[in-house]
Amino acid sequence: MSGKPKPADNESNDVQKVTILLVDDMVDTREGLKKLLSYEPDFKVVGTAGTGREGLEMTKQLKPDIVLMDINMPDMDGLEAASRITKSIWKTGVIMMSVQDDTDYIQRAMKAGARFFLPKPVDMNKLYSTIRDVYQVMEPMRRQWQMIEEGAGIANIQQIAEKSASSGDRAGHVIVVYSPQGGSGVTMLATSLASGLMKNNSRTLLIDANMEFGDVAAFLDIRPQATLADVAESAHDIDVDYFDNFVTTHNSGIRVLPGVMKPTIGADIRANAPDAVANIINQIRGYYDFIVVDTAKSLFDVVNASLFDIATKIVMIVTPTLPSIKNARLVLEVFDGNGFAPEKISIVINKNPEAARKGAVPPPEKIQTYLRRNIDGIIPLVDESFILNAINRGVPVIASDRDTRKAPIAQLLKYSDTLYGMLMGAQEAEPRLDTRPSGIGRIFGSR
Ligand SMILES: Nc1ncnc2c1ncn2[C@@H]1O[C@H](COP(=O)(O)OP(=O)(O)OP(=O)(O)O)[C@@H](O)[C@H]1O
Ligand SMILES: [Mg+2]
Repeated sequence: MSGKPKPADNESNDVQKVTILLVDDMVDTREGLKKLLSYEPDFKVVGTAGTGREGLEMTKQLKPDIVLMDINMPDMDGLEAASRITKSIWKTGVIMMSVQDDTDYIQRAMKAGARFFLPKPVDMNKLYSTIRDVYQVMEPMRRQWQMIEEGAGIANIQQIAEKSASSGDRAGHVIVVYSPQGGSGVTMLATSLASGLMKNNSRTLLIDANMEFGDVAAFLDIRPQATLADVAESAHDIDVDYFDNFVTTHNSGIRVLPGVMKPTIGADIRANAPDAVANIINQIRGYYDFIVVDTAKSLFDVVNASLFDIATKIVMIVTPTLPSIKNARLVLEVFDGNGFAPEKISIVINKNPEAARKGAVPPPEKIQTYLRRNIDGIIPLVDESFILNAINRGVPVIASDRDTRKAPIAQLLKYSDTLYGMLMGAQEAEPRLDTRPSGIGRIFGSR
């Protein structure tokens, strides 16, 4: 095969060999593969690792041409390790191996950036040819990496690696989802938006900045290896590669920085580094198109205040209840007082009841009139079991049913598209409701 590197004449001629790192938690598999691969004159196994984390560290250190990676491993699985490797050491080709070879696993491996998937037990001839094929495919990447390394020094390699990982400059929109009323659906909407905005190859990150009861990990069934608390420690000086080590990738591809595990930890951050989250976001926003932030209800909390400041859009949720609408209006007054332009705030009604029950609660038009602002999205109240079912499966509500005409999926998709349009300048932003003259005190009046 044309991509096969010239066999080395002797051991010192290693430069031309395909360098391989083996990552598998089973010692026997690792050693067996190592032995068999060493018989091939054009291969050189440069290291072995027993966990995903060790594999990631060794890849950063050894920068092999190929990483052969098992999926099921303790201390960071192979998918997570592959995803981190392909973002930072992009010249390395990852080949995934697993006893689980159903489509779902293969897709997840590809999403993590793997170049090929081989079922276990591995057919050695297939493995040899796959290594050579992937090595050939990665040739331009290696050349580019080498050029940068020779010409620009390590600092720039890092920068260019980061740039390459994010395919250039990103829009950096920060969407802070907020409601002054607890339980209004902030986490439901934030997780759904993070998923809904992931279109046209946009790069999206979801941050759980609810310092008391962060629910994002629970909504998405993520068992985080790191949380916001870990990054907050060095919030003043974050680079995107370092930051990526703390980000968990959800099955759906959403990148998530999970929230603090305990309210006491959140209280520490609020007391000692209240603007840590905003600082972190400002340092990495250029690498993402959208950073969606889930927040707690407190308005004057310093964490929230700093997030409101840096937000491109504050998505405020109102539910059709008197306290929620009243508080929303008070919040808008505070935002006005802060000098926030009205366009900075996008209002969404959540838990809007079915037509049959509408008489008992203020309709969107009345809420809009009372708030003197447009309503950009209306999400219906649905059977709680629908939402709980999505949470139990760890799927964002917006993506929890194949039927996209179903409530509240259709409305979540519509609002997500509206928001995308408002931020990215698409033409098809949804028409808004008419704004009628102010009707203070008439929220519950006749229609
Ligand atoms: N459109 C909806 N229809 C029915 N139930 C909903 C809807 N949106 C959210 N819920 C339910 O309301 C509850 C609160 O939702 P969620 O946790 O997203 O709100 P929150 O504002 O993040 O709450 P918290 O203040 O605890 O952070 C959940 O039990 C969720 O299932
Ligand atoms: Mg919440």
